[in-house]
Amino acid sequence: MKSAAQIVVLDAGGQYCHLIARKVRDLGVYSEVRPSETPAADLAGATGLIISGGPNSVYDPSSPTVDPAIFASGACVLGICYGQQLMAHLLGGTVQLGDKGEYGLATLHLLADEAGSASPLFHGISGPQQIWMSHRDLVTAAPPGFSVLGGTATCSIAAIEAPARGLYAVQFHPEVVHTSRGREILSNFLFGICGCRRDWDPRHRVPQIEDEIRQAVGGRNVFFFVSGGVDSTVACALCQRALGAGRVQGVYVDTGLMREGETDAMRSMPGLSIESAEAQFLGALAGVRDPEQKRHIIGEEFVRVQERIVESRHLLDGHWILGQGTIYPDTIESGGTEKAAVIKTHHNRVPGIQRLIEAGRIVEPLRSYYKDEVREIGRELGLPADVLDRHPFPGPGLAIRCLCSEIEAGVQATPEGCILPLHSVGVQGDSRSYAPVLSIDELDHARATELINRISGVNRVIARVRTAAPLADLRVRVSALTPERLARLRHADAVVRRLSHSSGFDRRIWQFPVVLIPLGTSEAPDSVVLRPVDSVDGMTAQSVAMPNDLLDSISTELLAVEGISGVFYDLTNKPPATIEWE
Ligand code: XMP
Repeated sequence: MKSAAQIVVLDAGGQYCHLIARKVRDLGVYSEVRPSETPAADLAGATGLIISGGPNSVYDPSSPTVDPAIFASGACVLGICYGQQLMAHLLGGTVQLGDKGEYGLATLHLLADEAGSASPLFHGISGPQQIWMSHRDLVTAAPPGFSVLGGTATCSIAAIEAPARGLYAVQFHPEVVHTSRGREILSNFLFGICGCRRDWDPRHRVPQIEDEIRQAVGGRNVFFFVSGGVDSTVACALCQRALGAGRVQGVYVDTGLMREGETDAMRSMPGLSIESAEAQFLGALAGVRDPEQKRHIIGEEFVRVQERIVESRHLLDGHWILGQGTIYPDTIESGGTEKAAVIKTHHNRVPGIQRLIEAGRIVEPLRSYYKDEVREIGRELGLPADVLDRHPFPGPGLAIRCLCSEIEAGVQATPEGCILPLHSVGVQGDSRSYAPVLSIDELDHARATELINRISGVNRVIARVRTAAPLADLRVRVSALTPERLARLRHADAVVRRLSHSSGFDRRIWQFPVVLIPLGTSEAPDSVVLRPVDSVDGMTAQSVAMPNDLLDSISTELLAVEGISGVFYDLTNKPPATIEWE
């Protein structure tokens, strides 16, 4: 099948693959994602091809590849990250296996700044450039006929080109916001190099989504489980607009894992019923400590509640289907694309829900959109700003912000700081890892980035803000997801939300998880980690510093909460650490 798209993104398994396609569309060019191995003949309609990043090494026999004929097909090609390594490997360059890799911000130095001859890929761009790196392997020799365009302190070949053949590649990620001039680099590729014409207008999306809803739903009605978050609210509103309010019903499930005041706020929403299921969720989670098991159980319990409601309301008679506010990152980070590494299991992608999807009883109007696009769609629909500007809150709720431990252990002092015997999740080179956390004494983001790149076996660096006792005297204790600890976390979260809202800080950031860790004294066994982050779509994120006076008042109030003996500050970007801790 020939491609109708001017730009085809070849999916080499990276979590950013669809982000690239979306950025290309944002620039006004229709783009599609295809499996990386798509034969060159099937890509004949495209003017440009972009090979995405991916978690593999070119030396792994099962790693994704591309049809080498694409490099002589007449289409211009841009390799990104793994795409650069693959291009170099297939065309005679050298790729060196890396063990630790490089994750996070780096500075690109363009050789043209010295030579004076700019590449069309960097047209209009000069001087040191902030870029975002996430890779293990490195290209150490460019293929014959290629020139090197620039490098960083640790990666001397960070961009290459063979302009006469229309081939370009970069080791960094131009598609993420942390690459400051990434949009211009992509734009240079699309318009300056490929000669694309503008054929896509993002404003077409609302009528298009409504059409898709009507097609998926047919003559049936839609039933929503509303979480109170932006996604399910916008998805539900889209369905109401597409089908008429009478054909859409919503129910909110109180899992007992919600934030303070959340369920009460939902009681005031029109057309929504509340299902109380706290005892069911907390009962199933009693004694469970493993993060993936928690997520799995919550997913299964959601399905049980759904099945119960569906049965009691006779929603199985064929007239109803389930609507969901699943957004794009939910699907790709759960392995929803052809090869995306499984980075996270979502409650709405566990087998129970999967069976509903397979049976065709589901509509997910936002499944190809990112958070910022969902907010824009909500604004186009006229939804209130206080709903649209809410920070995202994960489906499994406070459960994945309440860390548990099966062991009791002390902290381990090292020259760089103290290693806490806890495991938090990270995403390094596109795959998922659980690793211990390093605690340092300074609120120093640059030092945290340096340490995380240098020390292997640690995927998160936090700063000790204030503790009731010296850190060496605190211990990680055997702990579970008890009502008592959940109440403690809920209280701490409410304190942080109240103070960050009244100071206006919450409006400057994308999300602010508050995490309870079982580190403390025998009287006050837990500590709180503050995790304010900035992000555009949750795919990458930067830890944000907060004003000192706010941090001061937050830590003072938190230390006064029963059971809490420490306040820490997460300094880590994503990658290598995820936004959530589990
Ligand atoms: P991570 O932790 O993967 O989070 O960096 C990225 C974004 O996704 C949210 N998140 C979830 N949302 N169900 C959800 O609905 C989940 O299981 C889940 N896990 C993480 C997280 O809050 C952040 O905004």
